[in-house]
Amino acid sequence: RPGAQEWVPSDGDVGALRAAAPGCRGCELWAGATQVVFSAGDAGARLMLVGEQPGDREDREGEPFVGPAGRVLADALEAAGIDRADVYLTNAVKHFRFEDRGKRRIHKKPGVAHVEACQPWLAAERAAVRPAVVVCLGATAARAVLGREVRIGDVRGEVLGEEDPPVLVTTHPSALLRLRGRGGWDEAFAELVADLRTAHAAAK
Ligand code: URA
Ligand code: SF4
Repeated sequence: RPGAQEWVPSDGDVGALRAAAPGCRGCELWAGATQVVFSAGDAGARLMLVGEQPGDREDREGEPFVGPAGRVLADALEAAGIDRADVYLTNAVKHFRFEDRGKRRIHKKPGVAHVEACQPWLAAERAAVRPAVVVCLGATAARAVLGREVRIGDVRGEVLGEEDPPVLVTTHPSALLRLRGRGGWDEAFAELVADLRTAHAAAK
């Protein structure tokens, strides 16, 4: 079956995984993207944060969460008293999916097939980093980590202790960006910060 598995080194540490990722042909997304965007942060972190997929800026720079959503995440981590360098930051899908609109590249949500194809990378990262808690930023990350669909509203902010390691699902920072200038921003940001604090405390 298609998927990343044959490109993922078995028992690889994060360095070995990162080195192998550019060769992945587990789904078609590699072809349109500039480069693979693997992970950032501490390969021995107790807290692992999983986003959706790289955006336009991430695709150009080869680093996760360096665009507008990354700014929101950095602010939320800081407000929660978490040093960004102390977390391991990755995405459910490692290549940017987009639609061409003239000169602009518009983010397109990865499909379940992309999430499943890319899942071996995430599984290998979890095995290498062995975090105490995994935070899913949004529904795509939750689908990748939990292996099933959840509604954010049903689970958000709870430490799901039946998962090994425990998982906490929260909102994706780009969902907050859509609230900017419209109201609801302050509450949504405060909730994200509170969820990050909860996860950080559970990872101690
Ligand atoms: N959004 C994500 O989910 N991941 C990134 O790396 C950037 C934006
Ligand atoms: Fe491989 Fe994931 Fe990129 Fe698809 S998105 S080519 S599975 S790394």
